[in-house]
Amino acid sequence: MSMAHNFEPDHSLSKEELDKCSSKPGGDAFENPFHEPEYGKPPEPCILVILGASGDLTGKKLVPALFNLMREGNLPTNFICVGVARRPKTVEEFRSEMSSQITKHSRTTPDESDLFAFSEKLFYYQLEFQDDDAYNNLNLFLKDLDKNYGTRGNRVFYLSVQPTYFLPIIKQLKTHSLIYDETHGAPFSRVIIEKPFGHDYDSAIALQKNLSNFLSESQIYRIDHYLGKETVQNLLVFRFSNSIFEGLWNNRYVDNIQITVAENIGIEGRGAFYEGQGLTRDVIQNHLMQLLSLVAMEPPINLTPDAIRNEKVKVLQSLQTIPLSDLDRFAVRGQYKEGYIDGDPVSAYRNEQNVDANSNVETFAALRLQIENWRWAGVPIYVRAGKRLPKRSTEIAISFKKPPSILFHKNDRLNIPNQIIFRIQPNDGISIKFNTKIPGSAAIIQPVNMDFQYASYFGKEVPEAYERLIHDSILGDSTLFARVDESINSWRILTPVLDHWKNRPLQPEEFYPAGVFGPKIADHLPNSEGRKWKPV
Ligand code: BG6
Repeated sequence: MSMAHNFEPDHSLSKEELDKCSSKPGGDAFENPFHEPEYGKPPEPCILVILGASGDLTGKKLVPALFNLMREGNLPTNFICVGVARRPKTVEEFRSEMSSQITKHSRTTPDESDLFAFSEKLFYYQLEFQDDDAYNNLNLFLKDLDKNYGTRGNRVFYLSVQPTYFLPIIKQLKTHSLIYDETHGAPFSRVIIEKPFGHDYDSAIALQKNLSNFLSESQIYRIDHYLGKETVQNLLVFRFSNSIFEGLWNNRYVDNIQITVAENIGIEGRGAFYEGQGLTRDVIQNHLMQLLSLVAMEPPINLTPDAIRNEKVKVLQSLQTIPLSDLDRFAVRGQYKEGYIDGDPVSAYRNEQNVDANSNVETFAALRLQIENWRWAGVPIYVRAGKRLPKRSTEIAISFKKPPSILFHKNDRLNIPNQIIFRIQPNDGISIKFNTKIPGSAAIIQPVNMDFQYASYFGKEVPEAYERLIHDSILGDSTLFARVDESINSWRILTPVLDHWKNRPLQPEEFYPAGVFGPKIADHLPNSEGRKWKPV
């Protein structure tokens, strides 16, 4: 892709293609996406087919999520899950493997009878993804299950496979009639696609064009597990159900917004994946951009999936690409060297398994972004994410402008602005920082926090993100899935940055020892504008 790219929003998709993205046949079925499952529409019977069932995600996340959905009565009564993968395996082997994965990874402690009841819903089907005939046989297999378990032909296909397989598999599913055209009253067939959706702006558009030959937009569920997190969903509730904050939520009062997605883990054995992706594609393009659009969007006209996503995409469309001349100033990357995490030595990225000894891949990135709309013009958005940082912490900090200094200017502590902080994880909650007077005769000011924590307030276990998302895909509620124009607009901003980094070898100042908050040069982003990163 050439740097001469204009990166105007989505012009490479025709109007018709764009229309397909934003209005779905059958309309927005759900009035209220924040439905409590137990009060909502009961899910229709269906078969969930996991393609790539021998991967980590199935055992660690997907199957434990299904188990908890069943336990809490949120699966359809007639429900079957079929694991599909290349390895030959008997159904008994698959059930026993999944039972031990549930025991290891479920958020609730399983008991024997629930495990048994759940494993009865599991089946296994061995298939080579390129094998034409195998899809015919899979179709017959699923139809047999329909007959025996009353699943009525409804299908959700979960593509937990390498992105290069997305298209070939979907093409086969469509050719062999496992995916149907959407017709009112007919069984449904939906496809959940794991990230990454494309590799850059051009490839995301190409992928979408190809996918739309086989699927309508309303059949595609682009999963971003951040959207399944309770605290992420609560951003909307906080913003649009509390009128006291709305008047402040704009460039008149907000000085800057900071979003941090910090992890202390490294790449967890995913060297080959990381070499092809890097941190920006892995975390910023999807998770962090989703947080940004939720925190900055306008109120939607109602709570239907498209009304919410229309507003989110407008934020992404209003994001300015960083001018080429400012890329070095406003986009910083880093890669971790050896260092210490919680006192334990950890190795450098370049020494991880399956990583090139001269790798140019970033494990940290920080950007200074700008939303050019009426609400946010002039408010810098500083975002950063990284691996092997000192701790795991995802948060959004809204810092408000300082009051005129005439009254309390001698007091340095007033330099801490009022802030609203959304802690996405850990200790999910919200805090508001404001100034108070320390008791005594002197007017000494101290910032204090008013703090709210979900766990202690509600005393309720928070469901795993995958539970909510799988459940919604069965219900046909796409609110918490990324629409194609969200993904493409996110690439529009990030592709020039990635292109800029691609052919430049990492410089010494871009390395950081594991256990610190990225390379020192990342501090320039806010410092050069008289601000600082908020400590997390
Ligand atoms: C995944 C990334 O999408 O999100 C991982 O591929 C990252 O690299 C993970 O560690 C973070 O998710 P969470 O839920 O632990 O914040």
